[in-house]
Amino acid sequence: MIFSKQLIKWYLQHKRNLPWRETQNPYLIWLSEIMLQQTRVAQGLPFYEAFVSAFPTVFDLANASEEQVLKLWQGLGYYSRARNLHYTAKFVANDLKGKFPNNYKQLLELKGVGDYTAAAIASFSFDEVVPVVDGNVFRVLSRVFQVETDISNASAKKEFQELALELMPKNNPAVFNQAIMEFGALQCVPKNPNCEICIFNDSCLALRNNKITALPVKTKKTKVTNRYLNYLIFEDEVKNTLIQKRSAKGIWHNLYEFPLIETANDVGLEEIIQLSSEEFSDKYAVISIENLSSVPVKHKLSHQNLSIQFWKISIKDLLDSGLPFSEVKKRPFPIVIYNFIEKELLD
Ligand code: ADE
Repeated sequence: MIFSKQLIKWYLQHKRNLPWRETQNPYLIWLSEIMLQQTRVAQGLPFYEAFVSAFPTVFDLANASEEQVLKLWQGLGYYSRARNLHYTAKFVANDLKGKFPNNYKQLLELKGVGDYTAAAIASFSFDEVVPVVDGNVFRVLSRVFQVETDISNASAKKEFQELALELMPKNNPAVFNQAIMEFGALQCVPKNPNCEICIFNDSCLALRNNKITALPVKTKKTKVTNRYLNYLIFEDEVKNTLIQKRSAKGIWHNLYEFPLIETANDVGLEEIIQLSSEEFSDKYAVISIENLSSVPVKHKLSHQNLSIQFWKISIKDLLDSGLPFSEVKKRPFPIVIYNFIEKELLD
């Protein structure tokens, strides 16, 4: 049987029922595909449902504030996706009168929409014959056809797109695209796939040649840096605290945090007393400084390993622009900070 027929037959028997598979509405498809970038279905699904319920149309999303959008995105990570999503919603609502472009080429012009997302929307919403190539697709095709091209090279994508296009049934691009991604997510998984039950186990070249673990080939590893963050949780006489919006480029742009001292390593109380007094001693009369984290909180991002300590600084009198924690927690925070607020700071 030919590859696409076998694949689609498998998909129709094994697919998960997911809400974005029940629609051709480009707004809903776009929303789901942005959310599922670098994100597993189980993690993305509750966020998708919350967004659809808060913003049923692109106009509702366009009319929201960025802070509302970031708050609903809180915990999903890669926050530039949320900022681009909001930008594009405003563009589609205002400049395109709410109508999404209906083809791959024009979809690619939207901010935050790359090859993969444009192909997904074009095929799922408009039945355009254009293959999706994401990590799942690299894995499935590299194994079944033993393609040993290094996928860290940008040119690899074109090669896989061409192969996928050859394999794609031209009368059913949407189902083929869903099927190959689902096959990568459920059967042809990165580690220890169960090849004994695989529908391709008599034809898969990687299996035949004992190359399952070696494929896909990816040589360049992402470089990870270590960072040490010290958050100062001020508390004044009416139990107000201070927060700031992260305005610098880089992680967590436009999210909130407590006043921050970044150090070259994990530091102890002495050093924090010293560093915080350099910044704040002429502003506030400090009563006490206390380490609230028994051990530093570790938090991994795609390119950074964070080690975070929270320090409570009690001060006399009142903070300028102090806020109660009940107000603070309404703002969008990186999830690692939000979890700390919920667990340790709210009575
Ligand atoms: N990951 C990315 N897009 C997906 C989709 N449409 N269905 C399931 N998982 C996905």
